[in-house]
Amino acid sequence: MSSASEDNFFPGLEGVVSNETAIADMQGTEGQGGLAYRGYAIEDLAEKVSYEEAAFLLLHGDLPTQSQLDEFNGRLRASRSIPDSLVSLFRAVPSNVHPMDTLRTGVSVLAHYDQDVNADPKDHDANVRKAERLIAQMATAVAAAARIARGQDPIAPRADLSHAANFLYMLNGSEPSPAETDAFDLSLTLYAEHELNASTFAARVTASTLSDIHSAIVSAVGTLKGALHGGANERSWEVLERVGAPDHAEQWIKDALARKERIMGFGHRVYKTGDPRAVILKRHCQLVAKEIGDDRWERTAEPIERAVTEQKGLPPNVDWPSARLYHYLKIEVPIYTPIFAMARVAGWAAHVIEQLDSNRLMRPRARYVGAPQRSVKPITERG
Ligand SMILES: CC(C)(COP(=O)(O)OP(=O)(O)OC[C@H]1O[C@@H](n2cnc3c(N)ncnc32)[C@H](O)[C@@H]1OP(=O)(O)O)[C@@H](O)C(=O)NCCC(=O)NCCS
Repeated sequence: MSSASEDNFFPGLEGVVSNETAIADMQGTEGQGGLAYRGYAIEDLAEKVSYEEAAFLLLHGDLPTQSQLDEFNGRLRASRSIPDSLVSLFRAVPSNVHPMDTLRTGVSVLAHYDQDVNADPKDHDANVRKAERLIAQMATAVAAAARIARGQDPIAPRADLSHAANFLYMLNGSEPSPAETDAFDLSLTLYAEHELNASTFAARVTASTLSDIHSAIVSAVGTLKGALHGGANERSWEVLERVGAPDHAEQWIKDALARKERIMGFGHRVYKTGDPRAVILKRHCQLVAKEIGDDRWERTAEPIERAVTEQKGLPPNVDWPSARLYHYLKIEVPIYTPIFAMARVAGWAAHVIEQLDSNRLMRPRARYVGAPQRSVKPITERG
């Protein structure tokens, strides 16, 4: 029996290495910290590949050739529709339900209609097919649920648009500009994968019991929802809204830090000197703000970023700029985290497949701190 002593007690599993992975590396060059997907630095990927290429890389192990990409795009585009019964369910759920809850239900329903529904959970090829379909369908599900929540009818996906452009089209009913598409596509690539974060860990734990890939993604969606994880991008926008304008930012952050408030969009369990995704996305936020001719939120964010970094030693994480970018793209706040999920599904799926290809049940121990052993009294003697 493995021991659960003080020596191997790591609250929050901080610093614990529980898996080997070939999917993401957070060591960076010379151990300085950074992010690479299957050996390609995120800075390089951000400049040169689309979300579809990044998703292919994560699922299939390397960047696609042109013909592989054409075939991958064909498969994704052919899988974009979601069952009518799921649309009916979205219409039926109470209007006050958070879109992350709707999405969690949506993924579960999609499992029932998948062509490989009864495949062996360890069937690698079936899992890749399911993953590709989920990447395509989750985007449609997020857009459809968002429109229904606004009282609008869902818009059918278009097979002539990229993943990013099609999502914005399904959400808004009009084709996005090339600049909007590029910025949104980049955010999806940056959100696509991040090693053993809480939601990916949850997905791998579920898979490690030899459960199926949809169940693992449902676990991941539920885990991503929390404010300390994916939910932080919605909360980051709330910070900016509470501040309201550049002139108020310095005083607001001074007061918030004095109150020991946790500033959403800052800090990270692994990156202690900065999140490379935040650096990349900040540049693009500035470009989009310039293009729309309104840099109010860039000027509001700047003093907050400076104060939290200088006074608390906490640089921004990716959720800080992504909240502003999605605001510029006129996306409603409650679907910021579902968008994170529809991007991250590529990474989640890659991890689930890696786990199932070389599985060991995840079963850690807990250190017991409860009552000492005692005997059960008959109910009449319990006082
Ligand atoms: C991401 C996060 C959970 C990682 O935290 P962690 O490694 O577990 O660090 P802890 O929660 O133990 O915090 C360590 C210290 O930093 C402080 N801290 C951490 N993040 C902070 C933040 N965003 N704002 C203010 N203080 C923060 C804590 O209050 C704590 O201070 P103390 O030692 O004086 O009590 C944390 O930084 C956080 O809550 N950030 C905001 C949520 C967020 O943006 N999440 C998205 C992550 S990609």
